[in-house]
Amino acid sequence: MNRVLFIDDEPNVISGLQRQLSRLSLDWEFEGVNSAMEAVHLIDRIDFDTIVLDIRMPGMDGIQLLARLKANPKTKHIPVIMLTGCAERELKHEALELGAYDFVNKPADPHELAARLKGALRMKSYEDQLREQNITLEQQLIQSQKMELMGFLANSVAHDLNNILAVIAGHTQLASLKAHRVKGAKADLDHALESCDHGARLVQQILRLGRGSPAECELHDLRDIIDESLMLLSVIIPEDIEVIWSKPHRACTVGVDLTQMIQVLMNLITNAVHAMNGSGVLTIGLSQVPTIEDSHVKADNLHSGPYFELRVADTGSGMDQSTLDHIFHPFFTTKEKGKGTGIGLSVVHRIVKKFGGLVTVKSTVGAETTFYVYLPAVTTAGNIDRQEERIESVGREETNPVC
Ligand SMILES: Nc1ncnc2c1ncn2[C@@H]1O[C@H](COP(=O)(O)OP(=O)(O)OP(=O)(O)O)[C@@H](O)[C@H]1O
Ligand SMILES: [Mg+2]
Repeated sequence: MNRVLFIDDEPNVISGLQRQLSRLSLDWEFEGVNSAMEAVHLIDRIDFDTIVLDIRMPGMDGIQLLARLKANPKTKHIPVIMLTGCAERELKHEALELGAYDFVNKPADPHELAARLKGALRMKSYEDQLREQNITLEQQLIQSQKMELMGFLANSVAHDLNNILAVIAGHTQLASLKAHRVKGAKADLDHALESCDHGARLVQQILRLGRGSPAECELHDLRDIIDESLMLLSVIIPEDIEVIWSKPHRACTVGVDLTQMIQVLMNLITNAVHAMNGSGVLTIGLSQVPTIEDSHVKADNLHSGPYFELRVADTGSGMDQSTLDHIFHPFFTTKEKGKGTGIGLSVVHRIVKKFGGLVTVKSTVGAETTFYVYLPAVTTAGNIDRQEERIESVGREETNPVC
């Protein structure tokens, strides 16, 4: 509810205005005080949305109080409507210079005052929204700059790690050649080599992700992308989260940019991990659906033909309907300040759409959530040609192409 404060040294003026305005059935809360000092104390304790201020008052007058309000960062955004006499032109100029929002001549007509108050409240609400958006954008900027620094750091570490791994792998290979006489040594060294190989692939992924090269749509097997994403994310998945990845036997070829598809999976898996708060089951599934209508999704503007359905399911907090209604909106987050920016899923939605696909979700509060990502399947030779044409046409449509 909007809060309006009246400041006038004549109690009758305040009570009269309050009475007349309350007859206009406005959903506002009115407070009134008879001196500037009383107002200063009240404004210190209560947040008002607008103030109606008499210009002429004994002690601190309306102009002095206005100057004080506009000088204080906490109160400078409150619109102030000045109550003036007709002959107070000079004072009006002064009040305007100081930042008064509007004027109403005394004796005030309640309809006119109500209209001007509505204008002031509307403006305050727009300004409040803008301020909030600016704060969010500023936090985004700081966050993305931090990510850039972390990316730079990860790249440098990855380079060094690559060299270290090469030395370890080289020596292990040499030792392996000499180890045939010691029982069990060869198997141990082979394990060490496998780990080096794993580490080297991880490093390559970090380097590729950090490179920020322009997006390129190519044919990839979704199974490999899931493998790589899980390998990258293994460090952030707690031990008490069981990961079930039901990998299909047959290739699941799609036309995507590898890095951005990994970004999609990283967002979905990270969200799932956060939702499970330390323990639960993360299930990744992948299967083919003959057309998009064959899945549980009804969607327009999608081409007919086979799709791959990628499922990322968790046994976490789940979401209620009001959260579900907003999750793909940029900056929507239910996480506490500093923990989430609210852009993850909007990025997922944008990327998947550019690949000619669709992302949707099903969730039960307190039980589980499954995200479904549909991507056009590339199955036959003709289908590959069509997909490549589609990828090229998506690329042409984009000014700053994702693909
Ligand atoms: N698997 C999930 N289970 C429960 N809630 C989820 C899940 N995935 C997303 N959400 C909800 O959707 C919101 C938006 O997710 P999104 O990934 O866009 O932003 P975020 O995770 O809050 O922040 P960030 O931009 O850092 O990813 C989350 O704050 C959360 O409320
Ligand atoms: Mg997220």
